Amino acid sequence: MNILVTGGCGYIGSHTVLALLEAGHKVTIIDNLCNSSREVLERIKNITGINELTFVEMDIRDADGLEIVFNHYKFDAVMHFAGLKSVGESTKKPLEYYDNNVGGTAILLNVMKHANVKTLVFSSSATVYGDPISVPISETAPTGGTTNPYGTTKLMIEQMLSDLYASDQSWNIARLRYFNPVGAHESGLIGEDPGGIPNNLMPYITQVASGKLDELSVYGDDYDTADGSGVRDYIHVVDLAAGHLKALDKLEGLATYNLGTGKGYSVLDVIKAFEDVNDIKISYKIAPRREGDIASCYADPTLAESELGWKANKDINQMVRDAWNWQSKNPTGY
Ligand code: NAD
Ligand code: UFG
Repeated sequence: MNILVTGGCGYIGSHTVLALLEAGHKVTIIDNLCNSSREVLERIKNITGINELTFVEMDIRDADGLEIVFNHYKFDAVMHFAGLKSVGESTKKPLEYYDNNVGGTAILLNVMKHANVKTLVFSSSATVYGDPISVPISETAPTGGTTNPYGTTKLMIEQMLSDLYASDQSWNIARLRYFNPVGAHESGLIGEDPGGIPNNLMPYITQVASGKLDELSVYGDDYDTADGSGVRDYIHVVDLAAGHLKALDKLEGLATYNLGTGKGYSVLDVIKAFEDVNDIKISYKIAPRREGDIASCYADPTLAESELGWKANKDINQMVRDAWNWQSKNPTGY
């Protein structure tokens, strides 16, 4: 297929572009590079040996520019990763988040409609479940109760997509709810490149391991979990990318899938796995809970397995190994 990938230079987008190219698809990336680097394109070409990858530096809110691109390339489908994703930043700059994520998606959908491209795979998040009533979380669990503007943008976009589908059932839309993507391609050539001090656990750990940061703060040891630290469903980004290809293959109508492993690991479990696999000590201290965090969040991933034939294959040891491989080969990112 001929596929447009918005945000394809970013962390998850780049791994998905790689998988799409390896599966024989034709790919065009649109990215404004606000949180990524052009260097990603060279790395993808190096890994795949495929040079036919088109890149357009553009903001998805540029409706006129988008229209020209759609008219020129005649896409079959769109994978939409572009957006802002920092929970903390979203509380300080809510308007930027609503404008980019919600406004940008509305503009993209409008251009798709005019171009009669009605197949979309969208990056949603487990954050739409808010503080879940119980775990594992299935797709039928209630959504809402998001605790920050970023999460609310994902919820609003999900609603926009369901309203769009209700108005016109010739659309095919997958809303993929990611749990906690970590790790990197095994080559160590592409990976997560957070600017500044990372907010997320895995990049923080790898930067403590490399000596860039002194010590990890474990945010809370008094949650209602086995060891008191927060539990999450970490999923290898290569597995996550594969889920997008399966969703595209099977897509019919409006569908919503959890992409997670179904296993929950605590912060202390992740530290231990990292230390054991990579033979590096991680210096950490117990710190107060982080505002807005929940105790436990992991997926019931059975729907994606039964309907898409997809399931995550890579375990926590591969996640911490590949995260460290990427960090140690790219100490300053791209
Ligand atoms: P990322 O920041 O690495 O990638 C996003 C890409 O979109 C970047 O390359 C950025 O430059 C680009 N971009 C942002 N706004 C744009 C715009 N207006 N026009 C064009 N390009 C734009 O983030 P990621 O981790 O790869 O996440 C991809 C998607 O998955 C996002 O929508 C994110 O909200 C969602 N998601 C991420 C996580 C996670 O933990 N990483 C979890 C759940 C959902
Ligand atoms: N944590 C620490 N120390 C840190 C960073 C994180 O102890 O320095 C803990 C958190 O308290 C939490 C766990 O590690 O228990 C995971 O935290 P992350 O920040 O890595 O991930 P979150 O689960 O908070 O958030 C992620 C994405 C969000 C997304 C959410 C739900 O960052 O974008 O998953 O999908 F909304």
